[in-house]
Amino acid sequence: MKTIIITGGAGFIGSHVVRLFVNKYPDYRIINVDKLTYAGNLANLKDVEDKPNYRFVRADICDFDTIYQLMQQEHVTGIIHLAAESHVDRSIKDPFTFARTNVMGTLSLLQAAKLYWESLPEKYDDKRFYHISTDEVYGALEMTHPEGIVPPFTTKASSSHHEAYGEDFFLETTKYNPHSPYSASKASSDHFVRAFHDTYGMPTIVTNCSNNYGPYQFPEKLIPLFINNIRHRKPLPVYGKGENVRDWLFVEDHARAIDLIYHRGTVAETYNIGGFNEWKNIDIIKVVINTVDRLLGREEGEDMDLITYVTDRAGHDMRYAIDSRKLQAELGWEPSLQFEEGIEKTVRWYLEHQDWMDNITSGDYEKYYDDMYKNR
Ligand code: NAD
Ligand code: TYD
Repeated sequence: MKTIIITGGAGFIGSHVVRLFVNKYPDYRIINVDKLTYAGNLANLKDVEDKPNYRFVRADICDFDTIYQLMQQEHVTGIIHLAAESHVDRSIKDPFTFARTNVMGTLSLLQAAKLYWESLPEKYDDKRFYHISTDEVYGALEMTHPEGIVPPFTTKASSSHHEAYGEDFFLETTKYNPHSPYSASKASSDHFVRAFHDTYGMPTIVTNCSNNYGPYQFPEKLIPLFINNIRHRKPLPVYGKGENVRDWLFVEDHARAIDLIYHRGTVAETYNIGGFNEWKNIDIIKVVINTVDRLLGREEGEDMDLITYVTDRAGHDMRYAIDSRKLQAELGWEPSLQFEEGIEKTVRWYLEHQDWMDNITSGDYEKYYDDMYKNR
């Protein structure tokens, strides 16, 4: 019997991880600890909220006493830590909130786990503290493709990427060089997690993943924001020239990697997670426009004129690209979807779940907790 706290389970990636664990491991007890900030939406977990192996606890990870008591009460054996402030643009406006949750919140969680696990006779045996981080901690890569163009790759394999880019990828050994307040706060939290292994022997694991896309992503991030804007024929604000490159992974593939690494990853190791799927922003935006248009029965490309170039994001990282060969070789993980399938599935999901989107844009989603949980 395992009892696992998943923090940030009401957010985008966390909800997919909670769903996967609750359904796949009926013998585990899964406790979703989430503060329900603007990014937390319990409607993301409607389909699992009544499962007997699932519990939701509304709490702030910075609240040490509550987390420590919860660990004692529930005999927690593992933590999968996703709760964070996650949007770069918000971090530029309000860095303090990022330092509070991402740095102090992670430290508070680590300390609660340390005190509880060290109080047990078996101490750290069969325990895990798994911290979910981002590729953004490594900083930015240059564009090294010979023509300065990033071809839209669609393969699962990595060889063509290495032919095109040489060795210009983020490896697990790449030196940290964060540029935004968001990535600086995540880098700091990663260091604390590793320090708890090195200092106290806590069985920690850190993974750094590339940009995720898929259902249930909060519509401030590029893909859901643009799908919704195209649907409503609103302008699409492209930062700078739209030439920045991101490496996109379907969120369920990230969740599968988390499951695999939680169970089979080596303690104290770092794994980079990514699907060798780099796209220039402007290229991905065109794919999204064509897909939305087609699925809405509009003429493909009809909405290209919504593209609106706006002032660039301050400190905008040029290129992210993950080398996930370690994870692929050691644990046999690989992405399950070609990018075309993933983006089609994603666009279709948002168009078919307009109620989910409307609930967010109207603010109604914030009432879900009161309606469903307050009197439980
Ligand atoms: P998200 O913003 O969608 O969700 C974050 C969740 O954390 C929300 O449910 C929110 O309510 C909760 N939360 C925030 N502050 C909290 C606090 N103080 N206490 C308790 N809960 C709190 O984020 P996401 O995109 O799902 O990202 C999840 C994790 O994965 C983050 O740690 C992020 O850094 C990392 N990550 C994200 C991506 C990506 O592309 N989205 C890529 C790599 C890594
Ligand atoms: P985003 O989804 O915010 O993820 P991240 O900043 O973590 O990579 O942005 C993805 C890329 O899209 C990034 O290069 C910034 C760009 N972008 C825009 O051009 N316009 C937008 O409105 C948003 C939200 C992002």
